[in-house]
Amino acid sequence: VEQTSIMIKPDGVQRGLIGEIISRLEKKGFYLKGLKLVTVDRPFAEKHYAHLSAKPFFSGLVDYIISGPVVAMIWEGKNVVTTGRKIIGATNPAQSEPGTIRGDFAIDIGRNVIHGSDAVESANKEIALWFPEGPANCQSSQHSWIYE
Ligand code: GTP
Ligand code: MG
Repeated sequence: VEQTSIMIKPDGVQRGLIGEIISRLEKKGFYLKGLKLVTVDRPFAEKHYAHLSAKPFFSGLVDYIISGPVVAMIWEGKNVVTTGRKIIGATNPAQSEPGTIRGDFAIDIGRNVIHGSDAVESANKEIALWFPEGPANCQSSQHSWIYE
């Protein structure tokens, strides 16, 4: 089954959006397979966003991610990478549709509340980085009510 890495960024944590965000993903039918509140250091954040290291906003992005605790999660379900990104909304909240997390709760691209893996390959890499212990050993009891 497909898994993705979704992280509530420091602004989302400080603004009290943890419950709302988890609730949206749960209600959709996705299944929570890992969760932790962690404050990461600069080398870790630089590793997570390594593919953006040449961007002019990179150091600001790293400052942002290490500015407070984040909620790192593993979510599981059919097409969870792509659908998770749809629920999150476009990177720049100015373009995110209302009804998406960023569309409903964010204004600036540099304070866009949440991260979601952009492909199965990056999801697997990010899950290994954030959860070296692996996902929780649990199974949804609702499976047959969500999948045909
Ligand atoms: P993530 O889920 O956080 O990875 O966002 P994304 O996949 O929608 O976008 P991308 O991976 O390209 O960029 C990662 C993060 O860098 C974004 O979520 C923004 O917080 C930040 N970012 C991207 N582009 C810009 C930019 O032009 N300016 C600023 N200040 N931040 C940016
Ligand atoms: Mg990205």
